[in-house]
Amino acid sequence: PERVFSGVQPTGNLTLGNYLGAIRKFVALQDTHDCIYCVVDLHALTIAPNPQELMNATRSVAAAYIAAGIDVKKHIVFNQSRVHEHAELAWVFNCIARMGWLNRMTQFKEKAGKDRENASVGLFAYPSLMAADILAYRATHVPVGDDQKQHLELTRDIAQKFNNDYSARIKELGLGVEMQVGRETVNGYFPLTEPLIGGAATRIMSLRDGSKKMSKSDPSDMSRINLTDTEDDIAKKIRKAKTDTEPLPSDVEGLAGRAEATNLVGILAALTDTTPEKVLNDHGGKAFSEFKPHLAEVAIEIVSPITSEMRRLMSDPSYIDQVLANGGERASAMAAETLSDVRQIVGLIK
Ligand code: TYM
Repeated sequence: PERVFSGVQPTGNLTLGNYLGAIRKFVALQDTHDCIYCVVDLHALTIAPNPQELMNATRSVAAAYIAAGIDVKKHIVFNQSRVHEHAELAWVFNCIARMGWLNRMTQFKEKAGKDRENASVGLFAYPSLMAADILAYRATHVPVGDDQKQHLELTRDIAQKFNNDYSARIKELGLGVEMQVGRETVNGYFPLTEPLIGGAATRIMSLRDGSKKMSKSDPSDMSRINLTDTEDDIAKKIRKAKTDTEPLPSDVEGLAGRAEATNLVGILAALTDTTPEKVLNDHGGKAFSEFKPHLAEVAIEIVSPITSEMRRLMSDPSYIDQVLANGGERASAMAAETLSDVRQIVGLIK
């Protein structure tokens, strides 16, 4: 059966990039899949946030999931740390993953910067924990933005090496399933998870610099739209967004070399569930002075109801806490089964 898992880190404000690249897709997958959506608070510890802020940000990501339209009765919403199996499986995966694999992770290189010796071990091992998040549920599909692609390839590498290293034992215990790896059919325990990275919003860029990703951690607040922004903030940020001076082209070829224009067209396409081609069909030839107010109007129409629902939910967090506790219980039951299998496979007595 197909099962969807994804997660968002509770660090700083959620941005329009998180919404369009991830959360909006989470909502869309609910009708066709069993979904598990996690607030990855253990991952947030890699940057040592203030404890109060971490708790607040954890509730705020859960509020965003709910406000965006995730049905918490049909699907599972919880925070990672309450299901201890994630950390336990991450340890097993730390013993599967190779230093060389993790050394190649571009996100680690970016976040660690020049002072590698001073980076935390947690930051280095971050992708093992991410693989554990996904594989604790043997999830088959993971919706994410483009920046997580490399981590998902590593997740497949870990699953494949685990299946391979323990193949005899998996067979002996009868715990494997037949799966296709390239042209071969193999018997494995963990599925090779497929990333779901598609549509017009795989990589939303900064509003100030079309070569940088829109990010929670960019020092300039004008570079991003936060899910907590007011309507006026959103309008102002789009009005001031960096662009060139040419009008919009009438086809996507005309966007070549125009990173900022490409980004704004992509944002409108993602907000309206359409393609850049269609946006340019409708708006080609317009000046930014005409296009930007339209984009702002659409962004406000979609983001503002989410913002106000998040605010309402955050005003009394008891409902959010109840959702997280209930989701955590359901997630635990599933993850416990996986870990019981994994303990038998690797030889840990219980
Ligand atoms: P995080 O918290 O940085 O981002 C959450 C999701 O938002 C997407 N995203 C974007 N998409 C498009 N344009 C952008 N500018 C943009 N910025 C962020 C990210 O790709 C992501 O999908 N390691 C993950 C969290 C994680 C996870 C997991 C994800 C932990 N365990 C298991 C999937 C499965 C992260 O730091 O995402």
